[in-house]
Amino acid sequence: MIPHYHEDHHTLHVNTLPRHNYFIPYHSAEAALAGERDASQQLLPLKGTWAFRYYDSLLDLPEGFPAGAELPDTIPVPSVWQMHGYDRHQYTNVNYPFPYDPPYVPQEDPCGHYRRSFAFHPQAGRVATLCFEGVDSCFHVWVNGQYVGYSQISHATSEFDVTSFLTEGENTLDVLVIKWCDGSYLEDQDKLRMSGIFREVYLLDRPARHLAGYQVHQELNNALDRATVTLEPSWQGEPVPMTWQLFDPDGALLQQSTVPTVLPFFTIDAPRLWNAEQPDLYTLLLRAGDEFICEKLGLRCIDVVDGVLRIDHQPIKFVGVNRHESDPLLGYAVGVPEMIRDLRLMKEHNINAIRTSHYPDSPLFYELCDRYGFYVIDEADLECHGCTRVKVVSDEPDAYNLLARDPDWEEAMLDRVQSMVERDIDRPCVVIWSMGNESGMGRNFDAMLHWTKQRDGSRLTHYEKASFPPGSAEFNWTDMDVFSRMYASIEEVDDYFAKGFLRGKPFVECEYCHAMGNGPGDLEDYFQCFQRHPGSCGGFVWEWCDHAALREPSTDGRPHYGYGGDFGEFPHDSNFCMDGLVSPDREPHPGLKELKNVYRPLRVKAIDLNEGRFLVHSYLDFHFADELLSVRYELRQEGKIVAEGTVPEGRLHIDPHGDGVIDVPIPEGLKAPFAVYFETSLRRDMPLVPAGHVVGVEQLGTEVLTTALPAEVEAKIAVTEDARRFVLEGPGFRYVYGKLTAAFDSMEKDGRAVLLRPMDIVTWHAPTDNERRLRREWAEFGYDRLLLRTYGTKAQVLADRVLLTTDFSFGPISLKKVLSGRVVWTVHANGVLEAAFDVEKIDVRLPLARFGVRLFLPRDMADVTYFGCGPFESYIDKRRASVKHLYHDTVDGLFVDYCRPQENGAHFDCDLLTLESSDDALTVLGKGFSFNASRYTHEELERKGHADELVPEDAVVLYIDHAHNGIGSNSCGPVLAEKYRLDKSFSYGFAIVPRGK
Ligand code: GAL
Ligand code: MG
Repeated sequence: MIPHYHEDHHTLHVNTLPRHNYFIPYHSAEAALAGERDASQQLLPLKGTWAFRYYDSLLDLPEGFPAGAELPDTIPVPSVWQMHGYDRHQYTNVNYPFPYDPPYVPQEDPCGHYRRSFAFHPQAGRVATLCFEGVDSCFHVWVNGQYVGYSQISHATSEFDVTSFLTEGENTLDVLVIKWCDGSYLEDQDKLRMSGIFREVYLLDRPARHLAGYQVHQELNNALDRATVTLEPSWQGEPVPMTWQLFDPDGALLQQSTVPTVLPFFTIDAPRLWNAEQPDLYTLLLRAGDEFICEKLGLRCIDVVDGVLRIDHQPIKFVGVNRHESDPLLGYAVGVPEMIRDLRLMKEHNINAIRTSHYPDSPLFYELCDRYGFYVIDEADLECHGCTRVKVVSDEPDAYNLLARDPDWEEAMLDRVQSMVERDIDRPCVVIWSMGNESGMGRNFDAMLHWTKQRDGSRLTHYEKASFPPGSAEFNWTDMDVFSRMYASIEEVDDYFAKGFLRGKPFVECEYCHAMGNGPGDLEDYFQCFQRHPGSCGGFVWEWCDHAALREPSTDGRPHYGYGGDFGEFPHDSNFCMDGLVSPDREPHPGLKELKNVYRPLRVKAIDLNEGRFLVHSYLDFHFADELLSVRYELRQEGKIVAEGTVPEGRLHIDPHGDGVIDVPIPEGLKAPFAVYFETSLRRDMPLVPAGHVVGVEQLGTEVLTTALPAEVEAKIAVTEDARRFVLEGPGFRYVYGKLTAAFDSMEKDGRAVLLRPMDIVTWHAPTDNERRLRREWAEFGYDRLLLRTYGTKAQVLADRVLLTTDFSFGPISLKKVLSGRVVWTVHANGVLEAAFDVEKIDVRLPLARFGVRLFLPRDMADVTYFGCGPFESYIDKRRASVKHLYHDTVDGLFVDYCRPQENGAHFDCDLLTLESSDDALTVLGKGFSFNASRYTHEELERKGHADELVPEDAVVLYIDHAHNGIGSNSCGPVLAEKYRLDKSFSYGFAIVPRGK
C-alpha cells in the first residue's frame, strides 16, 4: 500500500522538482522588498493546526491509507511530535538507536499521519508547487487522496508540482511522516532525536512559465573597487525576460535595467563590501513576468593566500560557535524570533561566525546571518558517527568508514551536499561548505568535495574527517580547502604550524572549548594560540546551547529540564547534550561571558602604567577602532574609583589589526598601587546591538584593598581540653576546636552561634562536567572520599592569643595518604581566628578538586561583599570576564544554575569577603583565596541530577579555599593544562573576623 521507499537508499526522492536557490516570488515590488513571505499572494501558508494521528508502527496503518484513515488528534505544523506527547524523547550521541543494518531500520517504525484541507482556485496557465522545508526523517504526500511523491533528508527543502492534483474549492493534503528511514543512517547527529514536519509547508501559486531558480555570480576585481554581478537563471518553461532594479545598502536606487533581459548583468563601482563587521547588503529587485523577487547581495570575496584565510583580502579569524536548531519547547521547530534571539546574544558576546552543526538550518536563518553579519560554515545533513560504535564491538578496524567508503552510498551522500549547496548558493554569509560531520572518510567524501568545488569555486570546502583519513587509503586533498580538527590541543595546533603549513591550508578548530556545564576554562589559551599563527582562522566553540526537553510540567515555576535517560529511553548519553554556552532557555552561562571578553575587540597593554601610557591593539577586521568603539577608563584604588574619563576619539583612530597609543591622565598625587580599568563599548548602533553596549573590559595595574584586623586586646583565654577537643574561652567568646578535624566544632561570640554546624576541611567539590573523565580517576584513587587524620594538636597560650597547631593528612581508603599538612590556628583574645595551612601534596598523580575550609553560617547572612575576581564565576583558568575589584552580591546571586548541578559560583583571587545580615556580619581576610557562598553543600550538588531537585540548606554554606582545580574543557577537549592543576604543595591562610553589628 505505501511504497516501500524508506528502506531504499537508491530511492531518495520521488516526483520532487529540481533543486534551486531559496527565494519567494511576490505579487508586487513593495511586498517583495518587505520580504514577509506570508504576505506574498503567490504563497499559501499551510502552517497552523493540522489533524494528526500517531502510530507506533507503520504496520498499523489502515488498509487503503490514507483514504478512510481517521485522525482524532491535532498538532501544530511546524512542530516535532515528541514535544506534543507522542512517542518519546531519546538523546543519543554516537550510537545509532537501532541495530546497524543499513538500509534497514526497525520494522515497527513509528509514524505520524498529518492532514489538512485548504481552499484553492486553480487557474489556467498557473502551476502550484508544494514546498516542505524540513521533515524528519522522510515522508509521503497525497493530495486529494492521490499519491504525489516521497522525499527525505530532514534538513532539506522538497518541492512537488501538485497542479494536476488540485481541484476548485477544498483540497485535502495528507502527509505520512516516518520516524526512521535509510537516511537515518546518515543523520546520526548528536542530538535529541525528534520527528515530524518541523519546518514550514506552503504552496506556491505561480505562472506556468517562471523563474525556477538563479545563481548570483559575483566577482570583485583585485583592488576591490569594482564588482561584477551576473545572474544565471533557470526556467520553468520558456525564459521570461526580466527587468531589475539595484538599490544600495541604504535603499537608494543605484541602477536599473534598460531593456528586459534573461541574463541580468551589472557592475558596481566602489562597492560597499559585506562582512560580519559591516554587513552591507545591496538589494536586487527582479521582475519576471508579473512576479517580483527580492535578492540580497552581499559583495565579498573569500580566499586563501599563503595559507591564510581572508575575507575581502583581510585575514580574519572566526570567533565561532556551533549551533543546533534547538529549543526546550519547540525542539527543532525554531522560528525567526528564536533565531533572532540567538543571533542577538551572539552579537552581544562578540561572536562573528556560526557552524550550522550538523545540517543546514532553516533557509530563513541564512537571511538573518546576511542581515546581521555572521560568517557561516554551512554543513550538509550528514553524520554516520554510529559506525564508530560498530567498530568498537566488531573490532573491524575500518568500520568508521563503512558508509563513507561504500560506493553504494555515494548517491545518497552526494544528494545531501547538493541539496544544501543548491538551496543556499546565493547566501553571502556562507563562506565555507562543510560536507557533514563525523562520518569517517572514504571515496564518497572525495566525490562530495569534488562536486562542491566544481559547483562553487567561490567558497571554501570543509570536512573535518578528511584531515585525518585512514593511513592506508589514498585521498585527494586538493578539493579540501581548510584543514579542520575538533578539540585539537594547543600543542597540536602549534605543531601543525611548526611543521609548516600542511598543504598550505588554514587550520580551523571546527569544534573546541567544550562548553559543557561549568566551562570552558581554556578560551584565553586558545585565543593566544590562534593569534600567534597567521594560518589559524580561529574556531567554533562546542556549542551554542544546552539541549533539553521538559521532562515534566513545572509545578514550582522552574523548568524541569530533561536530558538523556530522563525519558526512559535506551540507549542514551545522559547529559552530554547539555554542553552549551547558554541554557536551554538562553540564559548565558558564565562561559559565554568568558568568551565575550576573551574576544573583546580591543586589548590594552601598559607601556608605563604610572605615567598613564598604554598600547591598544585592535582586533577589528575592517574598521578603524574609533568608527565603532569608544573607551572609558576608571582609575581604581582601594575599591573606589578615584578618577574616570573617556579616551579621546582621535586616539582610537587605529587601523584594523593595528596598534595605537593612548594616555590616561593620572591625577596629581595619585600614588601606586592603583589599577586602570578600561571598558570598551559601541559608539554607534550595530546590527542587533545598540550603541553603548559594552564589548569588553580589562584592568591593568594592581588594585589593593588595605584591610586591618581589629585591634588586639590583652586578655586571658582559658583553655581546657579532653580527648577530642579544646575549649577556648575568652572575652565574649567560646570556641571549641576538634582535635580530630583540625577545625572548629562550634564558635559562639557575643552570645550567638557563629557556626550552625562544625567547620570542616574539604578537599572535594561536586565534579564539573569537564571533570567527567578525571572524576573516574578520582574515584579509582579514592580522591572523592579522602579521610582526614590528625597527629596531635599542640596548644600554646600567649598573652593575647592561643595557637593550636595540628599535623594532619588526607588519605584514600585502602591507599596511601595523598597529602600531609600542618595548620596553625590562632585564636586572638579579640575573637579573631586565623588559619595558616602548609600542605604538601605527596601524591602528584592527580590534582585535588579543591582545598579549603567550610563553614555553615546563619541563613540570613546572605549579603556578600568581596574584593576579588568578579563579578562572574571565576577560577584559575576561567576568569577573563572578571577583574579584581570590590563587588556586592547576594548568596543567591552568586549561584550558577547549571541544569546538572555541579561546582559553581567560585570567586578566584580574593582578599576580602564579608557576609552579612541585618544584624550580623562575618569577614574573611586573606591574600588571594577563593570562596563559594551558597545555599547548597557540595554533597547536595553532587547528589542531584537536575537543578530543580536541589534542596537548599537552612544556612549559608561558605567555603574558603586555597583554590579549585582548573576548569578546562576535558568533557570532550584535551586534559587540563599542567599550570592549572591543583597538584602542587602550597601554603595558604586567612583570618575570620566574626562581628556583630
Ligand atoms: C563532537 C561532535 C559533536 C558533539 C561533540 C560532543 O565529536 O561533532 O556533534 O557530539 O563532539 O559534545
Ligand atoms: Mg557525533
